[in-house]
Amino acid sequence: MPLILDSSSESSMGSEPDLQEERRRLHHEADVVIIGAGVLGSALAVALANQGRSVILLEKSLKEPDRIVGELLQPGGVQALTKLGLRHTLDDIDAIPVTGYTVIYYDEHVPIPYPVIASQVSDRAEKQLCKYEGRSFHHGRFVSKLRAAALAHPNITVFETEVTSIITSSHNTQVLGVESITRKTHKDCFFGSLTVVCDGYASKFRKSYIHHTPRVKSKFWGMELIDCQIPTSHHGNVVLGDNSPVLLYQIGSHETRVLVDVPEGLPSASTANGGVKGHLQNVVLPSLPKTVQPSFKAALEKGSLRSMPNSFLPPSTNKTPGVAILGDALNMRHPLTGGGMTVALNDVLLVSELLSPENVPDLYDTQVVLKQLRAFHWRRKSVTSIVNILAQALYSLFAADDWQLKYLQRGCFRYFQLGGKCISEPVGLLGAVIHQPFVLFYHFFSVALFSIWILIKENGVLMFPISLIQAVLVFAKACEVIFPYIFAELRS
Ligand SMILES: Cc1cc2nc3c(=O)[nH]c(=O)nc-3n(C[C@H](O)[C@H](O)[C@H](O)COP(=O)(O)OP(=O)(O)OC[C@H]3O[C@@H](n4cnc5c(N)ncnc54)[C@H](O)[C@@H]3O)c2cc1C
Ligand SMILES: *[C@@H]1O[C@H](CO)[C@@H](O)[C@H](O)[C@H]1NC(C)=O
Repeated sequence: MPLILDSSSESSMGSEPDLQEERRRLHHEADVVIIGAGVLGSALAVALANQGRSVILLEKSLKEPDRIVGELLQPGGVQALTKLGLRHTLDDIDAIPVTGYTVIYYDEHVPIPYPVIASQVSDRAEKQLCKYEGRSFHHGRFVSKLRAAALAHPNITVFETEVTSIITSSHNTQVLGVESITRKTHKDCFFGSLTVVCDGYASKFRKSYIHHTPRVKSKFWGMELIDCQIPTSHHGNVVLGDNSPVLLYQIGSHETRVLVDVPEGLPSASTANGGVKGHLQNVVLPSLPKTVQPSFKAALEKGSLRSMPNSFLPPSTNKTPGVAILGDALNMRHPLTGGGMTVALNDVLLVSELLSPENVPDLYDTQVVLKQLRAFHWRRKSVTSIVNILAQALYSLFAADDWQLKYLQRGCFRYFQLGGKCISEPVGLLGAVIHQPFVLFYHFFSVALFSIWILIKENGVLMFPISLIQAVLVFAKACEVIFPYIFAELRS
């Protein structure tokens, strides 16, 4: 292990920016070392650098990413991006405005627009009505714009290098920096008062610092559809029915992303049945809206299928001095509700506020940093606990694989059909613009009770005793669906 001089103990605040630049470039030393220039790492680098911190950002490949993830940013994510001063990263990437969701249930569908906000026009007293909007786009183009913002920042130095290990102090557990390999041959070291691990869903480094491991029950299989006519344009379209959910949303002028959820061990996707391709061909294709089928078929024939695991990883607090774990490395939820980047950007906003020079003058003061990270764990809940619980609970309903869940799924759809608050508040939660966890609790149990009401009405008077038993079982299932995820949020 290299000898570490204790130079990082003195704060860099107020020193000359170009001296800092030299210190990063030549000596590989900074206030903060960030592992991974993804959505979280790039945005965090800019947020901290704007506060005058000296930042080293390490990324294994600066090529434009080509992935099937992170393509729909919720209105709550656009808001966070705006507050971070990074709203421009959504310009010139052929992004599509997203104004809500449409849920398609067999032959019916219900549009669920994002709620309307009354915003005060600053210099005049009148109120203006405007709609919350999200954006969908090619993930790689957005990440490249975020990276460009980091690359252009005078207080950030970006290195294209793959981090191989974390450097820990020899006399305690404190993290001091990282070791990396550049162009597969050249070994490097980087040192910072704080090391941020945000190396994404398959994080190599999380296991040393958090005790949870990701759970995967299904995969999303993705294709790019060309000139596809989705049921409602400018909406995220969710197709429900006998199978696991299918998502459709436009990501460019001509391109539409389709993501098909395929649970593990699904019989119709077994090798004997032609694998996932067979499942898409024989089961999914006929269940899609007629207007979508031609482009779906064409994409299948082209054969560019790709997949990603859909993970659940509950949040936890980090207790090791000198390090912070963030982004997908820290916390994941099913991507059904497209919440990951929105969580990441809101986390950047919150953590950069908690670690600002006003709150933490010297990042080498690890006790203060750890205290702020504990505060972060609880304060992020107002946004993230909602996104996490909603994603997991909604996935259980939408992928309904038993009769109780099927009742809840139908109840949920019928609930949306009621309109008014039955859609504006749920979609406000999903869009991360409503920050009261109780609203989620309220609507979830309203859906459960509404499902039971439909069940009793349908069964009629004579069946009432049976309905009663079914009602109890459906209600029990609803509790079984949501409570584990609520408890996961209450742990430290
Ligand atoms: C199928 C699917 C669809 C999704 N769709 C959406 C969506 O529509 N909307 C949404 O908001 N979220 C979505 N998500 C979630 C979203 O993609 C993630 O939450 C988000 O990308 C997390 O950002 P991150 O910065 O933590 O990780 P990433 O964006 O994955 O960034 C990690 C970075 O670290 C780099 N890296 C990794 N290891 C090293 C190393 N050793 N050294 C140097 N660099 C390294 C990687 O190259 C990468 O650039 C989806 C997820 C899945 C699985
Ligand atoms: C860079 O950091 C310095 C302090 O080192 C600060 O004064 C300056 O405002 C920062 N630059 C930007 C563009 O934020």
